[in-house]
Amino acid sequence: MKKRLAAILQATVFLLPVAAYGYPNGTPQYVTDSGPFCASCHSSVMAGYMPELPPDVAKKELPEQKHYALVRMPTLPSPYVELTPEDKERLINKAKLIDSNSAVSITARSKVKAGGELTVTVKARGGNGPVIGIMLVDRALRYQARPVSSDGWLVTGEPEVIGQDGKIQKAWLDKRIKGTPRNLNFVLIEGERFDPERNLYPEGMVTYALKAPSAPGAYTLTAVLLYGTENTDKAGFFQRPSGRILFSEEIKVEVE
Ligand code: HEC
Repeated sequence: MKKRLAAILQATVFLLPVAAYGYPNGTPQYVTDSGPFCASCHSSVMAGYMPELPPDVAKKELPEQKHYALVRMPTLPSPYVELTPEDKERLINKAKLIDSNSAVSITARSKVKAGGELTVTVKARGGNGPVIGIMLVDRALRYQARPVSSDGWLVTGEPEVIGQDGKIQKAWLDKRIKGTPRNLNFVLIEGERFDPERNLYPEGMVTYALKAPSAPGAYTLTAVLLYGTENTDKAGFFQRPSGRILFSEEIKVEVE
């Protein structure tokens, strides 16, 4: 028993620095296709993203319950116990301000021939940096959205990523192993500055080149914005629910 405990402790010591490297600051090592289900610790901006869940369970994923209730909780396991009530309210108000300044939009033509080319543009603003995450998926579903490629769309090249400074970024995509395809549905936009007093929020644009599915029909495309609201230096508390999942509207595309 003692041995097992020691082994667990040892594993924890080895695991923590990895987790601290990942949260906050997004997930710098996951340079691959992904869906919003991965962000289990993030709060959902809307309960409608989880229509499959009983309403009271879906509500628990909203910032009010998942994030702010934990901030206000007076005892452990809340990672916020060391804060004064004033600090807690300040933190919550800042998160609310960030949420109200965060948005993601998606644009594309509404019709395309089967196998034809379609350009999809995703614009995002919000969060607190230093990175934001963008995904291109089929539906605005927190646990069931799929990468567009699962619905027959082919991402034909590497997404074009433009950061807050208006410049094209390649550093994150350059982390892909040499020779492996870079036509991902997920990207991190880096170098995002944040100064709410100057109304400065992370911002970026991602352009995806798609080849339409071969089967005609009605399809939907949706963008996801993953962002944070705290940027705590206590990153060891990786269970903090201060991340967010925000979807764009679902746009309809008719494949003819
Ligand atoms: C173990 C919990 C946890 C999981 C799982 C998780 N995240 Fe996060 N993530 C966080 C926290 C906490 C923050 C918020 C940091 C903040 O408040 O500023 C965050 C923030 C982010 C940010 C914004 C960066 C920042 O520093 O604010 C991105 C992008 C992100 N996560 C992407 C992802 C992706 C993609 C996945 C799945 C592959 C994922 N996260 C899974 C905890 C998690």
